Amino acid sequence: MSFDFDTLVDRRRTASLKWDFCERVLGVSGVIPMWVADMDFPAPPVVTEALRARAAHAVYGYPLVPASFWSAAAGWFERRQGWAVRPDQMSLIPGVVPGLNLCVKAFTRPGDKIVIQTPVYHPFYSSIENNGRRIVKNPLSFQGGRFVMNLGAGEPWSDPRTRMLILCSPHNPVGRVWSREELGALAEACAARDLVVIADEIHGDLTLPGRRFVPFASLSPAAAARTVTLTAPSKTFNLAGLGTALAVASNPRLKGPFDAQIQSSGLTIGNVFGLAACEAAYAGGDAWLDELLAYIDGNAAFTRDFFAARVPAIKFLPPEGTYLGLLDCRELGLDPRELNDFFLRKAKVYFDPGPRFGEELRGYQRINLGCPRALLEEGLERIARAAEILPGL
Ligand SMILES: Cc1ncc(COP(=O)(O)O)c(C=O)c1O
Repeated sequence: MSFDFDTLVDRRRTASLKWDFCERVLGVSGVIPMWVADMDFPAPPVVTEALRARAAHAVYGYPLVPASFWSAAAGWFERRQGWAVRPDQMSLIPGVVPGLNLCVKAFTRPGDKIVIQTPVYHPFYSSIENNGRRIVKNPLSFQGGRFVMNLGAGEPWSDPRTRMLILCSPHNPVGRVWSREELGALAEACAARDLVVIADEIHGDLTLPGRRFVPFASLSPAAAARTVTLTAPSKTFNLAGLGTALAVASNPRLKGPFDAQIQSSGLTIGNVFGLAACEAAYAGGDAWLDELLAYIDGNAAFTRDFFAARVPAIKFLPPEGTYLGLLDCRELGLDPRELNDFFLRKAKVYFDPGPRFGEELRGYQRINLGCPRALLEEGLERIARAAEILPGL
């Protein structure tokens, strides 16, 4: 390996949401945080060099997005995702979550219904409800050891007030990398109802070995024409604090209203550091990412083997993409509050409770595998020790 993913960087008291939350907000100290989607690895050296160079300039006025930023992004999509995107089809946004809110406002009216495939990343719910629109759940099913989409009959596909679907691809938190066939079937279902598709593909580059990520808009010109893709290098390269993301729409009838929302929300100016970092990552982050994916895959294998050997009552559902996995803890027989307390207060590890993503995940927790192996091992050892005192195990 030419990049170091093993050294633990001390992030405590660095104003880190992931590392300071348990002590400052939950009032519990000494916890290993394995929750929010933020990795404990330093960004690739090409990124830190670009940031150092930008910081050394010492003048941080308003940026005008350079052509090299758009071409680095287009080059990345072509090279890594097999997806042809032109610079004039992209818009700069401060984050994918802001992008979700802008899409809800651009393409639906108050009272309209929007489909989400639950359980799902919690801001999908709030982007709909905070804007006075209504959620239509299209729950995933668990079949053959993995979650799959449900595209049959039912409210999402029949109600005339349903206008839009927000796709999570790859899916957080169930870790699926949707196949071309699954996405094709979804595209057909959305075409039949004439739904706008918002494809949140922020995890698209985090596809683990053996899987292939297919951008929804790359399926066909017809799919592209109804889609706004929201993406960013922020999960891939651990740059979430830099507030820089992209929206891609090849259909001017979608791009126009989306850009009008950017204008009316006063979000037209980018961030000088975000632009420098994201351009450097897209232009030269390939080798780092390839090694990261192998490392995450190793962490997933380690976690699977650990639970199977040491705490078989907890079942690990390894991800196909993302660095997030699910722990099925239903056999522990604890209610959701007891389960959270078990991990936070007894084991002293903090995960995202499953119900944060939907009631379907009662009894589950979401584990973040984006950390040095030694820290992961310490977290899992803590769980094994705490589980020894659980009755019936
Ligand atoms: C599916 C998904 N979308 C969006 C985000 C956050 O995007 P941003 O930080 O760009 O708002 C996350 C972060 O975990 C995510 O998992």
